[in-house]
Amino acid sequence: MLTVAGACWRPDGASIIEGFDLSLEPGRVTAVLGPSGCGKSSLLRLLAGVRALDGGSITGRAARVGFVFQDPALLPWRSVRQNLALPAELGVVTEKGAIEAAIEAVGLGGHADKLPSALSGGQRMRVSLARALLTRPELLFLDEPFAALDLATRREMQRLVLDAHASLGCTTVLVTHDVADAARLADRVLRVDGPPLRVVADVAVSASRPRSPDDVATVVRALECA
Ligand SMILES: Nc1ncnc2c1ncn2[C@@H]1O[C@H](COP(=O)(O)OP(=O)(O)OP(=O)(O)O)[C@@H](O)[C@H]1O
Ligand SMILES: [Mg+2]
Repeated sequence: MLTVAGACWRPDGASIIEGFDLSLEPGRVTAVLGPSGCGKSSLLRLLAGVRALDGGSITGRAARVGFVFQDPALLPWRSVRQNLALPAELGVVTEKGAIEAAIEAVGLGGHADKLPSALSGGQRMRVSLARALLTRPELLFLDEPFAALDLATRREMQRLVLDAHASLGCTTVLVTHDVADAARLADRVLRVDGPPLRVVADVAVSASRPRSPDDVATVVRALECA
């Protein structure tokens, strides 16, 4: 169980997260929906250990964490393949052939030697997703990973995330502005507001995946009423 209870503040002392208490069951996909600036990315960074809490505690962290940042955060002087080699260079054990397989899986077979500056925004996000999955994460954090993608690529990337989730059983937290994406992918949807960040609705989604358009529409209606 990944649990956060505590606070974090902006440099000017204003609260981003205050008196917040959240537990995430292992192996589930949780979507976080909320308006711009309410603290979603801050929450993800806290849960992943990228940012420290200013008070309180987090329990249940794991050794292998995958993070797709809202900005893809690639090293600009390294090619796609070299960016994907980074986890192994930093000591993360990756399987033989995993980098080439990841490049193919995200549909960037013809782009492996390109620098990030030669890729579109959606392609850069795909590299970021490939890098996060390479680590075979126990905890997977996705910060608006589908926002810059066309519909076909969006569906393909969502399938990749769900396949990874199914095979790794990773606890997954997805930040999105798209209620239909939350309805399509998540076991639990948190509607949040802020700052300071607070949960205004906590909705369990029981329909099995993959979900039909009717399933998704039913969940969207439930979320809109929550
Ligand atoms: N390093 C920082 N310095 C100053 N303010 C910050 C910092 N990081 C976050 N904030 C502020 O904290 C609040 C929450 O930011 P956060 O990035 O978590 O929001 P968000 O919900 O992810 O927004 P968006 O949907 O636009 O990505 C915002 O008001 C933001 O301006
Ligand atoms: Mg954000």
